[in-house]
Amino acid sequence: MIEHVDVIYGLAWGDEGKGKISNAMAKHYDWVCRWNGGPNAGHTVYVKGKKYKTHSIPSGIFAGKQCLIGPGCVININKMLEELRMLTMAEFDVNLVKIHPNAHIITEEHIAYDKQHLSHLGTTSQGIAPCYADKMLRKGKRAVEVLEPKWIWDGQLSGKILCEGAQSVWLDIDHGDYPYVTSSTTMPYGACSLGFSPRKIRRLIGVAKAYDTKSGVDPLFPESLWKNPILNDIIQLGGEYGSTTGRKRLVNWLNLDKLVHAIKLSGCTELIVNKCDILEKVGVYKVITNGELKDFSSLKEMKSFVYNTLIMSGGSDLHEVTWSGDVEKI
Ligand code: IMP
Ligand code: MG
Repeated sequence: MIEHVDVIYGLAWGDEGKGKISNAMAKHYDWVCRWNGGPNAGHTVYVKGKKYKTHSIPSGIFAGKQCLIGPGCVININKMLEELRMLTMAEFDVNLVKIHPNAHIITEEHIAYDKQHLSHLGTTSQGIAPCYADKMLRKGKRAVEVLEPKWIWDGQLSGKILCEGAQSVWLDIDHGDYPYVTSSTTMPYGACSLGFSPRKIRRLIGVAKAYDTKSGVDPLFPESLWKNPILNDIIQLGGEYGSTTGRKRLVNWLNLDKLVHAIKLSGCTELIVNKCDILEKVGVYKVITNGELKDFSSLKEMKSFVYNTLIMSGGSDLHEVTWSGDVEKI
């Protein structure tokens, strides 16, 4: 029987540090599951001071938890096997990883199409959109048809479940800045595609950053942002380079209008704001609110404005805000 489900997901454009939160929380759960996306994702996790990068395998692997890659995910077999080999070498138990039989398989043709026809959208060139397109056309290949049976899941979820989102609200196929989106449901309700009732969801933990970033193309992030020396400092100090593509990310001040919208749209109950320390290093504090830039003299002042705007304005289920640095308390 499923006791409860908690969902971690991104409230912005990806790269908010979901992997870090998921890794910190995994020990409290029986299962850690991915419900969307594939090798376009890049989760950076530190375990005992060592850095690991995963793309397809849920962060629960680092806590020795059962990991499920759901039917809404897409898989590049070679990349996944490479990831499993890396984890085996590092002495994590990859037998805990199972793949839903209905997950779809990315082919070389998908990758070639992505590179040839979709680069103007700034995709990660991993064949994501063509793979989901073939799934919708009902001509795709599923995991059960091609993977060794030992990887295929045939059980049932039970106990406490943590769902780990990939990409984020503004990359969602239905709600994101279309066509500058990915091809899956990044919204937390997508987690139900793993096979449980929406009523099982307890916490909706949304992750944001103290500033916004975008990998790839989006008119909301014009390239002129790279000309701003302070935003460039944030790129350098925050290590804002794609973990899948290595591309330099576009950085802008936290858009509070978008964050409020994302919180309401997704039903966020708890918000975690990562990378506040980077703003402190830069020593400049700004947010975009009501379409205008607003300056603060300290992080404390910015935090209190953000908190008041998000919580005191009401109209959402949000009841808690955690600033990064406090994350261990979760
Ligand atoms: P695709 O998912 O490779 O088709 O890329 C579509 C858009 O989503 C591009 O703008 C990518 O940069 C962005 N994207 C996809 N996955 C991630 C991610 O994990 N983090 C941040 N951006 C992503
Ligand atoms: Mg990432």
